[in-house]
Amino acid sequence: MTLLTPRPDLWTLDPEVLHLNHGSYGAVPRRTQDRLAALRAETEVNPMAWFRSVAGQLTTSRLELASYLRTDPAGFALVPNASAGVTAALATLPIRAGSRIVLTNHAYGAVRYAAERFGRTHQAEVVVVDVPLEADDETVVSLIAAELKDAAVLIVDHISSGTAAVFPIAALVEVCHDRGVPVVVDGAHAPALIDAPAADGADFWTGNFHKWPASPRATAGLVVAEQWRSATVPLIVSWSEYDERLPERFDMQGTYDYTPWIAAPESLRVLAELDWPVRRAQLSAMLDEGAKLVAKALGTGVAEVAHPAPTMRLVELPSTVDLSAGEAIKERVSRDLKAEITLTGFDGRGFIRLSAHAYNSLQDYQKLSELLPAALTP
Ligand SMILES: Cc1ncc(COP(=O)(O)O)c(C=O)c1O
Repeated sequence: MTLLTPRPDLWTLDPEVLHLNHGSYGAVPRRTQDRLAALRAETEVNPMAWFRSVAGQLTTSRLELASYLRTDPAGFALVPNASAGVTAALATLPIRAGSRIVLTNHAYGAVRYAAERFGRTHQAEVVVVDVPLEADDETVVSLIAAELKDAAVLIVDHISSGTAAVFPIAALVEVCHDRGVPVVVDGAHAPALIDAPAADGADFWTGNFHKWPASPRATAGLVVAEQWRSATVPLIVSWSEYDERLPERFDMQGTYDYTPWIAAPESLRVLAELDWPVRRAQLSAMLDEGAKLVAKALGTGVAEVAHPAPTMRLVELPSTVDLSAGEAIKERVSRDLKAEITLTGFDGRGFIRLSAHAYNSLQDYQKLSELLPAALTP
């Protein structure tokens, strides 16, 4: 197999910096930035004409994004981010007083806050299921299934943030639906990492285009199962309030910058030209190697996650590193090493979560492994 060449030239990232955390805020390729800038310039040439054109342009973009996810466009709405997608889903579901909102200890912090807010509003209990980092699919499903009594909803990650683990969504949907429990999938990391990510029958699935597909920020999708489509409304009440079609109801959210949504498909075309599915597999293999290099240099190991996300790995931090100083460490690594990494904690353990995208090469991880040990020593 021929190895695809890393393509940092397609991005505008500072070449002096090691960019090893695509997973947090993504990075937008130059071509999409150009498209975005052109759309913004067009807006300012004639704002009235621009806003007359927005609805049509959004339809075109939305259809392309839905097609990329291989999902029914009638159930696909645009939202600014996965947080908004999860919130809209929880606002739609009936949550009885005394029922339970179930999630796992891998859930994203802000999503847990959303569960807590809806729990307070509806006098429902928030139940956090402890799922070990190394759990296999069968264990994940049985641990969650044991907590579904009186559940109003299961909220589950498609790919978790802090642990970079892929969850068995199809099996979880099956077990939940057998018990009449709706499922909300937080697929913030799923687009471009999982093919047809919204195809497993969840009641609601949301995912970010501004992470792995490298679209402009504030671009995400919400996929709604047919039975919930008429009841699902955007968080902002605007002119499309009474539109009977779900996607159109979410399209126009008052005066807003719609250019990221319109420019988003440009990045999908960049990924296609980068031979993304093949590249993703190669990046995964490269990251396996890169993470081992970093772990070896730190004298630790790579976390044994049953199904790691293709392009993220967890490297165990030395036990001498105090994770409560995480923000200061990240800042020091950024300033002194010119490396962007993120740190995560789970179950009392600390990790460096490394990412790989098309602009990375094995040398990036080699370089980090040379620099990081000294920077982590107090
Ligand atoms: C698993 C997960 N859920 C939700 C979010 C929130 O995404 P956003 O900030 O785009 O709303 C993130 C962001 O990193 C995430 O990793």
